[in-house]
Amino acid sequence: MSYLILNANRSVGTIHKNIYGQFSEHLGRCIYQGLYVGPDSPILNRNGMRTDVVDALKALHLPVLRWPGGCFADTYHWQDGIGPQSGRKTIVNTNWGGVTEDNSFGTHEFMELCRQIGCEPYLSGNVGSGTVQEFSDWVEYCNMPGTSPMASLRRRNGREEPWNVRYWGIGNEAWGCGGNMRAEYYADLCRQYSTYLRSYAPDQKLFRIASGANVDDYHWTETVVERAGRQIDAVSLHYYTVPGPDGQHKGSATRFTPAEYYHTLHKALFMEELVENHSRIIRRYQGDRKIGLAVDEWGTWYDVEPGTNPGFLYQQNTMRDALVAAVNLNIFNNHCDTVWMANIAQVVNVLQAMVLTEGDRMLTTPTYHVFEMYKGHQNARQLESYAETTLLGQEEEQVPELHLSASQQQDGSILLTVANLNDARPVPLHCLLAGARAARVEGRVLTGRPDAHNTFDAPARVAPRPLDAALTEDGFTATLPPCSVAAFTLLPA
Ligand code: AHR
Repeated sequence: MSYLILNANRSVGTIHKNIYGQFSEHLGRCIYQGLYVGPDSPILNRNGMRTDVVDALKALHLPVLRWPGGCFADTYHWQDGIGPQSGRKTIVNTNWGGVTEDNSFGTHEFMELCRQIGCEPYLSGNVGSGTVQEFSDWVEYCNMPGTSPMASLRRRNGREEPWNVRYWGIGNEAWGCGGNMRAEYYADLCRQYSTYLRSYAPDQKLFRIASGANVDDYHWTETVVERAGRQIDAVSLHYYTVPGPDGQHKGSATRFTPAEYYHTLHKALFMEELVENHSRIIRRYQGDRKIGLAVDEWGTWYDVEPGTNPGFLYQQNTMRDALVAAVNLNIFNNHCDTVWMANIAQVVNVLQAMVLTEGDRMLTTPTYHVFEMYKGHQNARQLESYAETTLLGQEEEQVPELHLSASQQQDGSILLTVANLNDARPVPLHCLLAGARAARVEGRVLTGRPDAHNTFDAPARVAPRPLDAALTEDGFTATLPPCSVAAFTLLPA
C-alpha cells in the first residue's frame, strides 16, 4: 500500500489556466490540414476551420494558443497574411521542409480559430528577421480601437473591432533559429522591441514574454531578467523530452524497450529541476516587478513516423506520452507560483499532439485525454500533496512510482491527479486527506501498455474509464493499474 497525503490547508497559489495552453506553428500539417482546410474544403468546417478538431479542443477548455511559431515566427511577416487570400504573397517555409506557404492562414484566420475554440491568442512576433516598426504595427493592427493607419487597414480587411491581444512573445529561441544571438544582445533588443509594443486603451494591458532559455542555459535567464526585467512580464523556457542520444536518433514514438520507457520518464522529470532553477534566478533578478516563467514549448520529440516528411515532425502518441504529459502538468501545477503559462508542442499533427488527422479522419491521443482529465485544475487553488512511494529503474535514472498534484475549486471540490509510472505493477493506494472532508469520491483512469496508442482504425483504444475508489474515515482508497494516469474528484461533505 502506498500512502498519499493531501493537505487542503497548504497551497503555493492558484494554478493559472494558461498552464494548459497549446502551441500551433506553420509546420507540417499543424495549421494546413490539421486546423485549417479552407471554406471550400469537402472536410466539414466552419469558416475554414475543421469542425471536428475545433470541437475536440473546445472540450479541453483550451485557454491560450501560441502562433505562428516557433522558428517560423522569426521568418514571418504578418502583412503577407492579411487582405484578400488570392492576393497574398507566397513564401518558402525555410525551417520546415522548404514547402510553399501561401499565407492563406494569417492574422484574421488565427483570430477566428481562437474565437471558435474560445481561447486567447498568444502571438509570437518576429525579432530575428523583422523590424521594431513591423512588430509595433502588428500590435496596432490587432489592438487599436480608434483611428490609425493600422486600425484603418484592419477595417479595410473586414474587421471593425480590435481583438485586444494580450499575450505577445518577443521573438522565439533568439539563441538559435531566432537569430543566434548572445543573451546580452537579445536582452537589449528585448528592451527596445518591448518599448514600442503599446497599449491602445486604458484597460488594455499587454503581457510581454521574452524569448527564454534553451533547457539549462541559466546565464540566459539571468541576463534577460536582470537587463530587461522591467520591460517584460514573463520569460520563456523551452525543454523537450528527447529519449534518443542525439538529434539524429531521437527514438521511435511507438517501439521502445522498458529501459527506454523509464529513460524517457526520467528525462521528463528533469523539468522540475529546470523550473526550480530558472524560477530561483527569476526571483533573484526580478527586482520589485514580479516576472513569471512561460514554458511555451515542451513535450516529447521522437523520430518522425516512417515514410513521413522529416521536416513535418509527425509522430504517434502512446501511453508513455500520457505519462510524460501527466508528470509535466503535475510539475507545473506544483510550481504555479512561478509557472504562469505553458504551451505543449504542438496542438495537431506535430510532436506531442492532442489530435492527429488523416484526410477527413481525426483521433484524439492519450495526451489529449490527460489534458481532459486535468482540466479541472485550471484556475483552482493548488494543494500540497505528497506520495510515500518507491523508486523504479536504473540507479542514476530512477523515477518515483507515483507522481501527483492536487487542487481545490471554489466550491470546495478537490481534484487529485496521480500517475503510476510502474509499467508492470498495480499500486494500491490510501489517500489521507487533511484539512477537508469528502462526502463522495469519483475516479477515472487512463491506462494501457506503455506503447498503447490510438489509430484511425481504432481511435478509442486508449480512453479514460471509471475507476473504483472507496471513501474511508480519513480519505479514500483505490488501486492504480500499471502505467496509468488517474483523476479523483472529491466532493465536499
Ligand atoms: O516545435 C518545433 C520547434 O522546436 C519550434 O519551431 C522551435 O521553437 C523549437 O526548436
